[in-house]
Amino acid sequence: MGTKSYFEEVAPQWDKMRQSFFSEAVREKALRVAGVQPGKIAADIGAGTGFMTEGLVERGVRVIAVDLAEAMLKEMKRKFKESETIDYRLGDSEHLPVDDDTVDYVFGNMVLHHVESPIKAIREMVRILKPGGILILTDLDEHRFEFLKHEHRDRWMGFKRESLKEWLRGAHLKNISVDCAGENCCAASSCGCESASISIFIASGQKKLAKSIANGV
Ligand SMILES: C[S@@+](CC[C@H](N)C(=O)[O-])C[C@H]1O[C@@H](n2cnc3c(N)ncnc32)[C@H](O)[C@@H]1O
Repeated sequence: MGTKSYFEEVAPQWDKMRQSFFSEAVREKALRVAGVQPGKIAADIGAGTGFMTEGLVERGVRVIAVDLAEAMLKEMKRKFKESETIDYRLGDSEHLPVDDDTVDYVFGNMVLHHVESPIKAIREMVRILKPGGILILTDLDEHRFEFLKHEHRDRWMGFKRESLKEWLRGAHLKNISVDCAGENCCAASSCGCESASISIFIASGQKKLAKSIANGV
């Protein structure tokens, strides 16, 4: 089963699964680091059933929610009852269905370790940010738990923080930071023989102005 089929299947249980993996503290930290302001527009990439979107809507931010799995977006629509502040778009993080320079913030919580090319996904996220906009990625530090690949379709076994810094620099972001999100992601294998507890990082950066990119600064 591929990534898309897996998430189509688990969509109705995703909220319960997510609660067992990590808490709302990750979302609060991400929103705090971004310094979200009401009236702005954000994209939630790999939105799932709307974990990040929920916090953004509560703060008066309009959201473009993008996900590969139709069933995830369906669950989200059911939960948010067709809220007019959310624009649902089916799509892949490596070819985002969003115009250039459109949003003030891009959030990607726990999506990067599922995508084929994290570098391409990051470049796409930066493409849709307005100059001066903020990218926030919350995901897993590098780990050794193979069962997450088979049981949860993780493509990458987390990431080195140095790699994140390099990818964000290469994508023309400034004010880059990669830090602890202050929580671990916890999951047990189906046989009960392995138990993962993996630290979560928060990576952030701000899109440079076109002038600075052209001048190489
Ligand atoms: C681990 S879940 C996280 C969901 C949500 N962000 C949360 O924190 O609850 C990963 C989500 O990313 C979506 N996804 C996986 N690969 C994707 C891709 N290449 N493009 C867009 N969405 C993707 C999945 O369908 C799933 O909803």
